[in-house]
Amino acid sequence: MTAQQDLRSSPDTADVVPRETGAPPGPGMPAQWWRSAVIYQIYPRSFHDSTGDGVGDLPGITARLGALQELGVDAIWLSPFMTSPQKDAGYDVADYCDVDPIFGTLADFDALLERAHGFGIRVIVDLVPNHSSDQHLWFQQALAAAPGSPERARYIFREGRGEQGEQPPNNWQSIFGGPAWTRITETDGTPGQWYLHLFDSSQPDFDWSQEEVKEEFRRILRFWLDRGVDGFRVDVAHGLVKDQDFPDYTPDVDAASMGGEETPAPYFEQTAVHEIYRDWRLVLEEYPGDRALCGEAWVSSVAKAALWVRPDEMHQTFNFQYLETPWEAEQLRGVIDDSLYAFNAVGAPSTWVLSNHDVVRHATRLSLTGENPQGTGIGPAHPGLPDRETGLARARAATALMLALPGSAYIYQGEELGLDEVHDLPDAARQDPTWFRTAGERFGRDGCRVPLPWAGEAENFGFSSGGTPWLPQPERWEDLSRDVQRADPDSTLSLYRRMLALRAEHDLGLGEVRWLPGAEDAVLMFSNQDLTVLANTGTKPVALPAGHQVLLATAPLAGSQVPADCTVWLQRHAG
Ligand code: GLC
Repeated sequence: MTAQQDLRSSPDTADVVPRETGAPPGPGMPAQWWRSAVIYQIYPRSFHDSTGDGVGDLPGITARLGALQELGVDAIWLSPFMTSPQKDAGYDVADYCDVDPIFGTLADFDALLERAHGFGIRVIVDLVPNHSSDQHLWFQQALAAAPGSPERARYIFREGRGEQGEQPPNNWQSIFGGPAWTRITETDGTPGQWYLHLFDSSQPDFDWSQEEVKEEFRRILRFWLDRGVDGFRVDVAHGLVKDQDFPDYTPDVDAASMGGEETPAPYFEQTAVHEIYRDWRLVLEEYPGDRALCGEAWVSSVAKAALWVRPDEMHQTFNFQYLETPWEAEQLRGVIDDSLYAFNAVGAPSTWVLSNHDVVRHATRLSLTGENPQGTGIGPAHPGLPDRETGLARARAATALMLALPGSAYIYQGEELGLDEVHDLPDAARQDPTWFRTAGERFGRDGCRVPLPWAGEAENFGFSSGGTPWLPQPERWEDLSRDVQRADPDSTLSLYRRMLALRAEHDLGLGEVRWLPGAEDAVLMFSNQDLTVLANTGTKPVALPAGHQVLLATAPLAGSQVPADCTVWLQRHAG
């Protein structure tokens, strides 16, 4: 029996009932929406500002959900909106069970959820379990308590090295740059212990060997499940458990890395981390409906990523190998095959993603030459910056390839408008801790987080009336505004709408990739359900296969030629 068959007949999946609004079950597949869903990531700070303070908020999202229904997404994932001092844009949580005032209130969240469900859109919230904010009550209590106390045990406090404990406990580096340890001053004023923070010093790591930490997160999961959320995106899902020997470690890349080394760091991919998700899966299964966990685990292969989605763990995990693959046919084919094989082997859907709030937007990234490590960003003088036209053509073609694949796909807000990376932000506007912790050596992620343009003619392109957007929007986005694109059948927005409609109509999310013979080296050609998909990653036009009707093309075709950087969806002529 294959893993897939085994999963279908297992008691926890056999009786899942689809919601009325959910994706219809495909032939022989369980009715689990997350297997094929298109999930739209909302970065709340930058979506829509309803209060005029320059920062997006929950009522702003609720007011604009109609645009997402029109787009045709199945679910939204909200980046963190919980109480936070916003040192890392909300990924530094001070209270996991409340809404930060800049985003609104719990009542605003409930209203958002209700409206989304009314539209048939499921809602996933972001959970940040690796670390809290230093403003979290527990961390404040830890600072006030003595070394060795139960309050300190919730975090990772250690004595320093050196005669006076003046050296950090080991050489680990923060992902954002600089040491991963900060020394505190004890309550009597003497230099004290060090605490671990894999990210900013305002983000102390929890100690997940402690039962109290585990119990607290079960409580937090239930808090949001009780409110009706459909699932969680789990931040730094590969990082919660650390090697208890805390050995020195130097990553094999220059910058500190989010993971993905062949030999994992002693703070990533530790075997015991999987126990946590098995436990959470049981918590989710206490609830009716079809709730899902999606892990953010940066690991070195899809085979490793598949460990996060074994039948008793998470439902989905991000396919960062796909995101990191250049626009090149052979490599794309390789990662697609590897992904389908690895995820299928554990009975999980593959996921696909090209952009998110941590990486250079793919309308820019896919045309860049040279190294572009995750989270590092690009600046005004980045070598080999492409012209916008090439970047956009590749982005449209790459997205049409992604959305034709079976499994679940993630869209990051603004990519449906073809937004490019704002690489030319003024230095004074930058806010990412990466920029500050590396003294400007790494630009960080602000360039992909700039507030959305809704209306070309309006103040702040309709993102905020009255306020100054928390990051400045470039003038060049006027033409990319949503209202401008809605009116244009050839716009990127119209293309996305059409792709999502066809994807649903032809059930591509639950189909299968069959590679077709006869494609040139730079071309990917496969069938999925009754469609044929051809993506030309090369520099020369290629001929359309005979006997097909074009359903969609990401660039104008020259007769029966598919130009470079273009993807087409085709249907065989009847008869
Ligand atoms: C994840 C988030 C990123 C955040 C980091 C620390 O990688 O996606 O935005 O800075 O975790 O929480």
